[in-house]
Amino acid sequence: MTNLSDQIHIKDHLFKNRSVMAPMVPNIAGQDGSVTEEYLNFYLARARAHVGFIILGAAYVHLDGKGFERQLGIHNDGLLPGLENLVQSLSKHTRVGVQLSFKSLDKLPESFSLSDIREYRSAFVRAAIRAKECGFDAVELHACHDYWLNYFLSPHFNHRSDTYGGILENRFRLLKETIAAVREAAGDAFILGVRLSMDEFVEDGLTAFETLTVGRWLENAGADYISASGGIGITQHRMSPPMEVERGSLLPFARALKQMVSIPVIGVGRLDQPGIFREAISSEHADLAAVARALVADPKYVAKTLEGRDKDIRPCVACNFCLMCLQSGEPLRCAVNPRVGRDISPVPPLKRKLKVVVVGGGPAGLSFAAHAALRGAEVKLYEKKPVWGGAINVGKRPPFKDVLQDLIDHLVKSAKESGVEIQKGREATVETFRSEAADKIILATGAINLELQISGLDTRGVFSPEEILSAANVASGRYLVAGGGTVGLETAEFLAEFRVPITLIEMTDIVGQGLHSTRLNLLLERIKRGGVKLMKKTRLISFEGKMAQVEIQERTMQLGPFDFIVFAVGFRSNRKLAEAIGNKYPVELIGDAAQPRSIYEAISEGFEAALNLK
Ligand SMILES: Cc1cc2nc3c(=O)[nH]c(=O)nc-3n(C[C@H](O)[C@H](O)[C@H](O)COP(=O)(O)OP(=O)(O)OC[C@H]3O[C@@H](n4cnc5c(N)ncnc54)[C@H](O)[C@@H]3O)c2cc1C
Ligand SMILES: Cc1cc2nc3c(=O)[nH]c(=O)nc-3n(C[C@H](O)[C@H](O)[C@H](O)COP(=O)(O)O)c2cc1C
Ligand code: SF4
Repeated sequence: MTNLSDQIHIKDHLFKNRSVMAPMVPNIAGQDGSVTEEYLNFYLARARAHVGFIILGAAYVHLDGKGFERQLGIHNDGLLPGLENLVQSLSKHTRVGVQLSFKSLDKLPESFSLSDIREYRSAFVRAAIRAKECGFDAVELHACHDYWLNYFLSPHFNHRSDTYGGILENRFRLLKETIAAVREAAGDAFILGVRLSMDEFVEDGLTAFETLTVGRWLENAGADYISASGGIGITQHRMSPPMEVERGSLLPFARALKQMVSIPVIGVGRLDQPGIFREAISSEHADLAAVARALVADPKYVAKTLEGRDKDIRPCVACNFCLMCLQSGEPLRCAVNPRVGRDISPVPPLKRKLKVVVVGGGPAGLSFAAHAALRGAEVKLYEKKPVWGGAINVGKRPPFKDVLQDLIDHLVKSAKESGVEIQKGREATVETFRSEAADKIILATGAINLELQISGLDTRGVFSPEEILSAANVASGRYLVAGGGTVGLETAEFLAEFRVPITLIEMTDIVGQGLHSTRLNLLLERIKRGGVKLMKKTRLISFEGKMAQVEIQERTMQLGPFDFIVFAVGFRSNRKLAEAIGNKYPVELIGDAAQPRSIYEAISEGFEAALNLK
């Protein structure tokens, strides 16, 4: 049986194990495409932790093909010193490749003249030569996820009528020519891989029927490995599957491809638990197994998996907040790992003895407590409820969200292991601070559900999302959910499982704000299938008995009748304790207690506050 820890050869290059860091644009290079310290450190943290092969995220080969503001460039010789330095640093620990890319944005294949094709194709060749000169082990042609080479290969995008369009052989031509030209320029010893979307998951797109053939052609054309990805922009939930898509869903494509070719095949796609990561290799789905987000969430994911330290892994919860950062032009950030972007900066020990009392065992309080204790502070953490995790305990209840329990478990484990004294089931009061004599008090007391003051409302039938989501069962009756944010949508989905009639109204025409499209689209499909009646631009005005008065585009009408109403209209910070304390003690508010937001802010503010202790 082959294992993840086993070595593998690609050409004459020996790889120390079969783990791969899949290409990711972290959007932290210079505006000019240069390697920055932040960029180098992001990769160095992962290289040092046993990854066998790091493939740097899409680097643009030509300025016209730049897709992100702070994307890595490999399009001019001026970038060589930075790249050389990067390769030298990473090569001490791992094999290093770079993905060569050209993002043609809105320009489809028919917009490219033959001279454009020649120019951009030779840009790939020049970039490959640069990569070889810098000491990279490999280049990977980015032929998936809506990039230029994918556009030509795909019947969904390619509507040319010349020799670059039409039948598969023609659509493959650009890729074939690019491989031949790169191979000729870079020589036989250099590794040349190709990344494909094995299935684009759109009606007229590429499917395995064609890509398995393409796989054979790629081998004949001189490719040294194929990375079997999936999806395109509009089916991005297949590329980076969110929590609602099962782990390893792309592995069957890698397995099928592996049976068609004799070059190594890389499998990918939510291999974010050590079991499935190992199994990708041991069950012969793929020759190498790649992870992207698991390594964002925990740079030591590979090392911990190889060492069998599964329980020490900080779990990626597949929320795709990282993708949202990238796609809104921000640097890569992670909901659960506050150190992304400062990956190798040390967490310095405190210079003096410090006692800190933390109130609230949600993500903010736990994150603060663990990091402060790591710095040497004496930390005591109070949580009034009998469980840890704060609002995540209800946040994990809607379908597909149980992965959030893994996050709670990890946060609690980290706090305990760093020496935090924990007091579960104990409410902190002003009295507590009197007896504790702490140097600092951190209030991570979370948020409280907002309720609208609506006339005519029979408050007996009013619930908060928390009350609904915590219930083992819900009363049968007709439900009105007011508020189409993420919490409202998820509460409606949860209710729909009990087969009760639900109407969800949202005042604006935007629903699910803050949720990445890969999750939002699937959630909207599910609530539609669950029979939820979703009404946008609908504002609740008042109630008359069981009937709701609403305003829709300046017209008032009645909806109903309803037996129950759920207010999912937002939260306000829980400042009860802060107000009781006044300025008697030095306090700092973090997470939802400062402003209701999400897990990302809670965890990162906890970390920041711990770093700021003096
Ligand atoms: C239904 C729902 C779904 C959600 N889904 C998501 C999601 O999918 N993704 C996401 O990013 N965010 C989600 N959120 C938001 C996210 O859960 C919060 O932003 C996050 O939990 C805030 O963390 P926190 O530690 O600041 O506060 P909380 O998690 O609210 O923790 C505060 C803790 O303080 C305790 N506490 C309060 N007062 C005292 C006291 N006096 N003494 C002791 N303990 C006290 C409370 O019991 C609680 O455990 C969701 C929220 C809800 C309600
Ligand atoms: C932030 C981010 C950036 C990505 N950038 C690239 C990229 O540059 N090139 C690419 O082929 N895939 C890219 N991907 C897709 C990943 O390489 C990977 O195939 C996908 O996320 C599934 O793997 P995972 O479940 O381990 O995250 C990116 C994914 C993320 C989350
Ligand atoms: S932001 Fe979410 S999906 Fe991305 S790496 Fe972090 S936990 Fe995983």
